[in-house]
Amino acid sequence: MTSPIESPPGQPPRARGLTGALESREPHRRSFKEYKSFIRKHYDGFAGALTAVTGVLTGHEALAGRLIRLGGFDVRGCKHILDAGCGNGRYSRFLLRHADPDAVLTGFDLSPKMLQRARARLKSPRVSHVVADLTRLPYADGTFDAIVCGWVLEHLPDPLPGLRELSRVMAPGGKLLLLCTEDTLTGAMCSRLWHCRTYNRDDLRQKCAAVGLRWQRELWFSRFHRWLKLGGIIVELHKESASRSGFPA
Ligand SMILES: C[S@@+](CC[C@H](N)C(=O)[O-])C[C@H]1O[C@@H](n2cnc3c(N)ncnc32)[C@H](O)[C@@H]1O
Repeated sequence: MTSPIESPPGQPPRARGLTGALESREPHRRSFKEYKSFIRKHYDGFAGALTAVTGVLTGHEALAGRLIRLGGFDVRGCKHILDAGCGNGRYSRFLLRHADPDAVLTGFDLSPKMLQRARARLKSPRVSHVVADLTRLPYADGTFDAIVCGWVLEHLPDPLPGLRELSRVMAPGGKLLLLCTEDTLTGAMCSRLWHCRTYNRDDLRQKCAAVGLRWQRELWFSRFHRWLKLGGIIVELHKESASRSGFPA
């Protein structure tokens, strides 16, 4: 992780040196509305289709399974599970495998084409999909007891509206597995490929606390990733109870 430098008001803290110079500025170049439309087209098109291939080549398909399991992000006992920005259903697949048989899974994504790809992959009556934007979720407060949000938050110029929505739709005591591109050299290179931003770990932790999400524990894909600080920010967060956070339940 690189220590951040001051940015102009409204801009996220920027990493120093090569990392900062490499990071994509795409999310900050235009209005959020225009950026979202650009991202929807990006994932609807060839880049979105390519995620199935890159997932296998980079090992992410298999690595996802190392997180959603016993001893990892454990969804046993959770009855309403959300895959936020589910893409082609990479995490949904493992959530279905480990969730209780009577648990239901909901997935949403900005890209209708990614949802088609997820449906084609999962073929399960236990999953429902809807097109939605992370910053305006069509769910009532406290709907989900477990949420996975993988590599989506980096597509928001400002993480707070998305984090607020995730916290709002999570039941008190619920848990969230959040995966984000980090402000490292490899993270900055990924941000170029996927036209997204990166996050500074300490800054993100503060933002999560501000919306009542407690940074429970950091996870890594493997010891190798932990040792080399690779693979991005992967964290399990718990929603504070109303009495402790001052947030409505
Ligand atoms: C890198 S992919 C990750 C997909 C999946 N979570 C995974 O880990 O395989 C990012 C996904 O986020 C979606 N996305 C980007 N911005 C979004 C937004 N504002 N609301 C909902 N989904 C969004 C994209 O359409 C894309 O499917």
